[in-house]
Amino acid sequence: MTVTINIKDLVKKYADATVIPALSLEIKKGEFFTLLGPSGCGKTTLLRMIAGFNSIEGGTISFNERVINQVEPGKRNIGMVFQNYAIFPHLTVKGNIAFGLENRKIPKEQIAAKVDDILKVVQIEQYKDRMPKNLSGGQQQRVALARAIVIRPDVLLMDEPLSNLDAKLRIDMRNAIKDLQREVGITTVYVTHDQEEAMAVSDRIAVMKSGIIQHLGTPQEIYQRPANVFVATFIGRTNIIEGTLTQVEGRYSLQIGSDYAEPVSNIRVPKPQASLKVQISVRPEEFIMTEDQSGIRATIVHSVFLGQNTHYFVDLESGQRIEITQESKTSQILSPGEVIYLKVKTDKINVYDAAGELNYTGSGQL
Ligand SMILES: Nc1ncnc2c1ncn2[C@@H]1O[C@H](COP(=O)(O)OP(=O)(O)O)[C@@H](O)[C@H]1O
Ligand SMILES: [Mg+2]
Repeated sequence: MTVTINIKDLVKKYADATVIPALSLEIKKGEFFTLLGPSGCGKTTLLRMIAGFNSIEGGTISFNERVINQVEPGKRNIGMVFQNYAIFPHLTVKGNIAFGLENRKIPKEQIAAKVDDILKVVQIEQYKDRMPKNLSGGQQQRVALARAIVIRPDVLLMDEPLSNLDAKLRIDMRNAIKDLQREVGITTVYVTHDQEEAMAVSDRIAVMKSGIIQHLGTPQEIYQRPANVFVATFIGRTNIIEGTLTQVEGRYSLQIGSDYAEPVSNIRVPKPQASLKVQISVRPEEFIMTEDQSGIRATIVHSVFLGQNTHYFVDLESGQRIEITQESKTSQILSPGEVIYLKVKTDKINVYDAAGELNYTGSGQL
């Protein structure tokens, strides 16, 4: 059986230090849910609380309706996969996968059948009699994964399972994990600090900072309408530029630099004012290069040709350096020192309050 995980007002303290002040979250049945955030933000701490390896200083964790705060780890029916594999070096692949089933006193013939099934699912059948030391990192991680899911856990927890693998294998394995999770449908909580990995595998993501969820949403929501400047800069690449919003007859105009202003239609300001300072997140692909001198004046510093796209690093008149991506043209790449003019894709950019805490850009569009 797979479960809903309900976390309510959860508090974690290590001695006097509060690492998670009050966290509430509902993870849906069968969902692939990711905790994403910089190192030290509390991802592992929260995962270990769900697993039962960390004490809970306040609030509750429930599986379906049942509060599990006091349930010991071995009775939570959880499968876990860690960064360092943690498979038994003295057991074969088969032995490793069978271990949890033997512990549960499942009859021998059933164990053999279950192990064979799962070996197929994670595609390591041909290695079943090997010792772990004769497997590659990716193969060992498949063993760890097989061992975690063969017990048919209610919840699958994974803590940076791919960090020790090289870049190409990481991508192969993340696809394998995603496919596997879809197939077995176990409620999964996945921890990573890698935003691209999070976007690739997750149904929903919670972006955390200092034990507090900054934004909870689908990969698309988080990328396109990040809740604050922290999330905008953590997910993907972006440029944060200062600007001014001015209101004329109920409509907003966004001004950047001295000369460029553009009407913006999807702005909601809680306390409307005639004019207010804002921070604007413009991703490299959200700039338009133009000859039109009413745009933002910028000077090319250097360019990087990457095939499909060309990246330009340009200096604004304020001295701020920003990054722009344009689809590569067959004409010549712009040279350092050339002056260009920029406009922004007003439907895509995000406009925040001066503190960068509140997104003024239209909600409910996704
Ligand atoms: N056992 C512990 N004792 C004291 N502080 C800890 C302990 N484990 C983690 N911390 C602290 O809690 C914070 C969150 O850590 P952690 O959950 O490991 O972050 P993450 O997994 O996001 O990198 C960090 O400041 C870390 O130093
Ligand atoms: Mg961690």
